Amino acid sequence: MSDPRTVSNASVSAFDLKKKVLRLEALYDISRSVANARDETVLAEEALSRTVPVLDAGGGFCAVFEDRGQSGSVSAVGLHPPPAIVSVLSDPFVLDVCRTNDPVRRGETRLLNVEVRSAAGIPLRAPSGEVLGVLSVFDKESRGGGSASFEVEDLRFLASVAALVSPALGALRQIRALAEDVDRLREENRALKGSLRAGDLLVGDSAPMRRAKELIGRAAASRASVLIRGESGTGKELAAKLLHAGSPRREGPFIAINCAAVPESLLESELFGIERGVATGVEQRLGKFELASGGTIFLDEIGDTPLPIQAKLLRVLQERVVERLGGRQPVPVDVRVVAATHADLMEEIRRRRFREDLFFRLRVVEIQLPPLRERKEDIPRLAAHFLARIAEREGRHLSLTRSAVAELLRYSFPGNVRELENLLEGSAALVAGDLIDAGDLQFSLAPVAAAGLAAHDLASIEREHIRQVLVSVGGNKSRAARMLGINRRTLYRKNVT
Ligand SMILES: Nc1ncnc2c1ncn2[C@@H]1O[C@H](COP(=O)(O)OP(=O)(O)O)[C@@H](O)[C@H]1O
Ligand SMILES: [Mg+2]
Repeated sequence: MSDPRTVSNASVSAFDLKKKVLRLEALYDISRSVANARDETVLAEEALSRTVPVLDAGGGFCAVFEDRGQSGSVSAVGLHPPPAIVSVLSDPFVLDVCRTNDPVRRGETRLLNVEVRSAAGIPLRAPSGEVLGVLSVFDKESRGGGSASFEVEDLRFLASVAALVSPALGALRQIRALAEDVDRLREENRALKGSLRAGDLLVGDSAPMRRAKELIGRAAASRASVLIRGESGTGKELAAKLLHAGSPRREGPFIAINCAAVPESLLESELFGIERGVATGVEQRLGKFELASGGTIFLDEIGDTPLPIQAKLLRVLQERVVERLGGRQPVPVDVRVVAATHADLMEEIRRRRFREDLFFRLRVVEIQLPPLRERKEDIPRLAAHFLARIAEREGRHLSLTRSAVAELLRYSFPGNVRELENLLEGSAALVAGDLIDAGDLQFSLAPVAAAGLAAHDLASIEREHIRQVLVSVGGNKSRAARMLGINRRTLYRKNVT
């Protein structure tokens, strides 16, 4: 009779060999799917579905934790329904697993709120050490039926699976992060191109426009404060954006604030920010100066800034620090300041409505954008530029008849380039074909009447224009201001009644 132990040893080793082959095959399969996986969940499912049978487990789960707005997922075998990611994340056994680098095993324990006879698990860690998920199995079955505990060999297998799957998970995440970055950069690029397409550059070859463009080009490179002057609609904001786009700070933010449109009581916190707890429930808020850090702040309608705020602006310009409302520490800011106004600041200074010291701080470089009626030679080019833009947007071909151009040249454009742009938008919307004729131009002020007025009487043209707009909106000043592209405070100042 042969020794029963020998027989049993021989069969055990044959069994062991078969088991080893099965495990190697499983690892081979997993490694192949790792190479092709495009998706974390698919990868987790693959790893789990190979692992559970090879380890003779009654069930198991593979959780991939949430990342960058992805909510995470759990694949499960032998758990009905599959556990939610939150219950996995709060399970004490899972938490123990996440704390280690090595596989963990237990005898009888609770796992996901059920009693299991045995459990084993391993964290899926990125090379950085970050836990990306866990792989866990439970209820090991012994060969003859009944339960057993997970062995050292089983844990080695789990470790091998984790070693295959974790880098792939990490790589998938990195790819997703990169794809997101690419999307974001594309979006930013599109936005930049949208706001700064060649077509959006300052159009105009008249002598004053050439001078303005040349000044913008030179001033852009420096950090000197620039004051842009010109009537409403002459392109001040566009010029400010070009100053920023041409500057070494172009990668930084361009932050605009209209000092006339923000109510005086809010202007200070808008500009300089507010410390948390200034009043009950007040959260800290950054002001535009801090938001513009590393970039450019555009202070539009600077002439309408109330005197107390002017004093604070002066301090910011002199000392390059801002004080948040209710803040104790001045905060340094690195900001290039571009201001704009339609007002005659010298006159405002004389009337003591504008600080002279602030004026000189702001006006290190001054760029003057002349009204359109003083550079009528720019009108045909501007018109062609706007029409081309409308046509491109709408997939049309648009052009002006000769008499339409003549009509444009006769008009005074109290609303300047903005008015020309709006006029063409309106006409393009009305004509069915490609040609815009004189009769299609809906001037808000009769061109003949405007042309009939003497050039020195521009103020009266403006007043008349405002009056007509006011009548057309039934005296509603907010709406009139919006139509005229000026703000209400400016409208009140015009004293048109
Ligand atoms: N020289 C120009 N070339 C092209 N577009 C211009 C020009 N000047 C002004 N615009 C356009 O006219 C509109 C009004 O310009 P904006 O910069 O807002 O004027 P402002 O700030 O002086 O009121 C904007 O749509 C702007 O793009
Ligand atoms: Mg403006």
